[in-house]
Formats: sequence, C-alpha cells, structure tokens
Amino acid sequence: MSSSLKLAVAGKGGSGKSTIAGALALLQARAGRRVLAVDADPDANLATVLGVPEARQREIVPISEHRALIEERTGAKVRQYGQIFKLNPEVADIADRYALVHEGVALLVLGAIEAGGSGCACPESVLIKALVADLVLHKNEALVMDMEAGIEHLGRGTARGVDVLLVVVEPSRTSVECADRVFRMAAEIGLRDVRVVANKIATPDDEQWLRDALADREIVAAIPLSEGIRAADRDRRSVVDGLDGRTLEAFEGLLRVVQGEADR
Ligand SMILES: Nc1ncnc2c1ncn2[C@@H]1O[C@H](COP(=O)(O)OP(=O)(O)OP(=O)(O)O)[C@@H](O)[C@H]1O
Ligand SMILES: [Mg+2]
Repeated sequence: MSSSLKLAVAGKGGSGKSTIAGALALLQARAGRRVLAVDADPDANLATVLGVPEARQREIVPISEHRALIEERTGAKVRQYGQIFKLNPEVADIADRYALVHEGVALLVLGAIEAGGSGCACPESVLIKALVADLVLHKNEALVMDMEAGIEHLGRGTARGVDVLLVVVEPSRTSVECADRVFRMAAEIGLRDVRVVANKIATPDDEQWLRDALADREIVAAIPLSEGIRAADRDRRSVVDGLDGRTLEAFEGLLRVVQGEADR
C-alpha cells in the first residue's frame, strides 16, 4: 500500500470539501499513517473540521502571513512589486516547522494571497507555489489538500504528483455546474485521475439525480447527509468523532478506492 497518497479536494463552496478532506486525513492518521493536511482555501476552515480547539486555532498563522519567512526565502519584500527574487525558494522544511499536529494529522494553513490574481508574481505567491509543488512532488507522506472551489493552486508541473483529484458534488444544479468547470481545468493541467464524490445524499433520488446530471462520470462514493456530521460541526468536534456507522463506512470505502488508485 502506498504510504504517500496525494489527494486534492475541490468543489463548489459549501459542498463539503473540508468535511471530506478532514475525514480522509483523520482516517488515514487513525490507520497509523503520517498525514499532512493542507488548507489551501483562503477562507480556511479545515482546522475546525479536524476538531482543533479554538484556542489552538487562534495560534495558527497562515504561511502567507509569515512575512519574515517569505522575505527570507524569496529574498524580496512583501507588498513591493517589480522586484527580483528567487524563483526556487527553499521550502522543504516549512511543513515540518509550521504545521500544527492534531489527532495525528499535521495541518498546514496556506492563507490568502492578496490581489494580483492567480498569475501574480508577488513573493508570497511564489513561496506558496513552490511549497505546494514540493509537498505534492517530493514529500513522502500522505497529503490531503483542501482547496478552493477550483484548482488554481495546481499548475501543470504540480498536477503530475497528485494521485487523485476528488470533486465534491452535492445534489444541486449549481454544484454540478461548478464540477464541470473543475473537470475542464483538470483536463487542461493534465490531472491524471479525477473522481466525483457525491455528498449530502439524503435519498436514493438524490443519488440518481446526480448520476443523471453527471452523465458519464462515475461516482466513487456517496456520503450520506449525516446528522453526525452536522452535530460534530455545531459542537466543534472532529468530523469523525461520534460518526454514525453508515457515514463512517462511506468515508472508509472512499479511502479504499482512492488508495487503490494511487497504488496502481
Ligand atoms: N454529508 C454531510 N452531512 C451533513 N452535513 C454536511 C455534510 N457534508 C458537509 N456538511 C456540512 O455542510 C457545511 C459545509 O461543509 P464544508 O465546510 O465541508 O464545505 P466546503 O466545501 O469546505 O465549504 P467552503 O467552500 O465554505 O470551504 C458544513 O456545515 C458541514 O458540516
Ligand atoms: Mg472548506
């Protein structure tokens, strides 16, 4: 079994990306694997899903806000444009130094990059791009990356290292439309394996509607709309804490499938 499954999770806002990324990270850690969970969503909430207590969450400084680190590694000042800086900053030690470990999962929060768009060559963006590429391509541990709706953090080079991109879809038209955009972006950057996870499935009709709406796309797992997940969220417990058997089995089944993909 591959010890270094590299997973990325995308999908429409609110579809359940963080919930699924968090559950897959925690279940791998429970199975004794080293897991790095990366929160690559500027509106970060993976820590909450992992059940990190509020006080510890307040200690988290996203990488994009570590000004001294960014300036040291890139040789450029934050928020100044037109500078020359190192395009290959040293990043190999960052995950170990800055991740917060909780329930066996090392959590790294990347943070937001201000202005300039995805093509911006500001130092924080250069550092984060290099960091993501290093984690995906060179780190020998399981990686679960919780992304924005899209996959802007991944470029062509980095996509090679991603074993599976999970696109989370709930049974709504807008969610399916967002997934279609992600499929196109994924094809453009050459992601090898793109899989759909159906989430918040309440009835057999929900699942059937999604199958029809997604046409030829296979659904690798259907996660039920779960009272356990809702309660854990409200009570600030980790997503897998006190989870009902059916939902837990759905997450475990999903993990088995993606692990099988990575081992091929
Ligand atoms: N299967 C489920 N059953 C019940 N509630 C769920 C389920 N999946 C997600 N939720 C709830 O839906 C809400 C959104 O989930 P989550 O935060 O994981 O989505 P997201 O895609 O990461 O959203 P964002 O785009 O805001 O980051 C949360 O309150 C979460 O607890
Ligand atoms: Mg999220």
